[in-house]
Amino acid sequence: MKIMVVGGGGREHAIIKGLKKSPKVTEIYALPGNGGIAQDATCVNIGAKDIDAICKFAVDNKIDYAVVAPDDPLVLGAVDALEKVGIKSFGPSKNAAIIEGSKVFSKNLMKKYNIPTADYNVFSSAEEALTFVETAPVPIVVKADGLALGKGVIIAATREEAIDAVKSIMEDKVFGDSGNNIVIEEFLTGPEVSVLCFTDGKTVVPMVSSMDHKRAHDNDTGLNTGGMGTVAPNPYYNKDIEKVCMETIFLPTVEAMNKEGRTFKGCLYFGLMLTDKGPKVIEYNCRFGDPETQVVLPLLESDLLEVMQATTNGTLSDIEVKFADKSACCVIMASKGYPEAYKSGCPLNMPKADENISYFVAGAKLDGDKLLSAGGRVLGVTAVSDNLKTAIDDAYKAVKKVDFENGFYRSDIGAKALKAL
Ligand code: AMP
Ligand code: GLY
Repeated sequence: MKIMVVGGGGREHAIIKGLKKSPKVTEIYALPGNGGIAQDATCVNIGAKDIDAICKFAVDNKIDYAVVAPDDPLVLGAVDALEKVGIKSFGPSKNAAIIEGSKVFSKNLMKKYNIPTADYNVFSSAEEALTFVETAPVPIVVKADGLALGKGVIIAATREEAIDAVKSIMEDKVFGDSGNNIVIEEFLTGPEVSVLCFTDGKTVVPMVSSMDHKRAHDNDTGLNTGGMGTVAPNPYYNKDIEKVCMETIFLPTVEAMNKEGRTFKGCLYFGLMLTDKGPKVIEYNCRFGDPETQVVLPLLESDLLEVMQATTNGTLSDIEVKFADKSACCVIMASKGYPEAYKSGCPLNMPKADENISYFVAGAKLDGDKLLSAGGRVLGVTAVSDNLKTAIDDAYKAVKKVDFENGFYRSDIGAKALKAL
């Protein structure tokens, strides 16, 4: 089968490497892919948001199945557009992708269907939001309604920070129209867990749980990033908690979307906080998380293409989705300075992947046959091993073999998880 994957980061590289293991797959195209993905797929210079060009490419090249990985094209309706031209695709339709595209929508959904989440208020005027913040307890969390490259959430430790957050989102429009409305919500505490689920709108199959590390530097210091590393499984997430999540969060969410006439198919990502009052939803994503995917998919033993097709066809209950009883650790190597200003175009060399180590390229371009960095997050180095300790050790051993002088990485990915064990 000819497969097309829309997107061009580490997540897409992990998806492509996963798909390549399927005996049914003969060719993979990545739109746009990147210089590192080019080792595993044919990269085509079409942007992930250029839906007309994506559809034309798929039809012209007789693509048998498409995977739309990033949030933007999903929220813009890429899956609907592809289906209209006869291409079956993995991912939610536009009217279901709103679960990530609008935080106001997702918060109201949770309230209506009693799905546990932080208490909140919605504001469409800066004036009203500022009045509210004057007497609200701090810390408090201010969230832009729409997509904001993962930066639309501000944890305000003080009232002044909350006021600044409201002003910058609603008045200065730092996230553009994504900040026309905001959610202000209660600050929750507890361990965070990411759970990605396959769903066809009826059956929900949770993947192995994971833990992201969002801050740029060790000991959770520095700015928030797209994610500096992950481990799976997440030791805080045990069988009892999984059962509670299934009954109070996962199934109710899928059923709520059905009741709203917005059946969700694809990968539904639950960002959870395990509070002392039980698990609560911090955020939904309408897609695979990154870098979570870089630890979750290497542990998948079933045929990824078959599982994806089952979500599209509504046959997920007919298949078994198996994960290895092992652990994985992914360390992200980023350009020095990230998530603020950084230099691109710096040489990147890594050894050949071996059975237990994968190099997922997030941001690099080819210059002749040389790889040069092209982005903030550049490389994900994933190790799979029998237990978390050895997975962490192996990932860091592999990181040290990478030659990327302009790079930096956190040295404590998985440390908190190890402590929790
Ligand atoms: P998001 O961009 O939605 O993933 O949020 C970024 C991070 O902000 C999350 O991973 C949490 O660590 C934190 N966060 C979001 N909402 C809350 C909340 N209500 N209470 C505490 N932390 C939060
Ligand atoms: N790692 C969080 C996300 O993909 O949004």
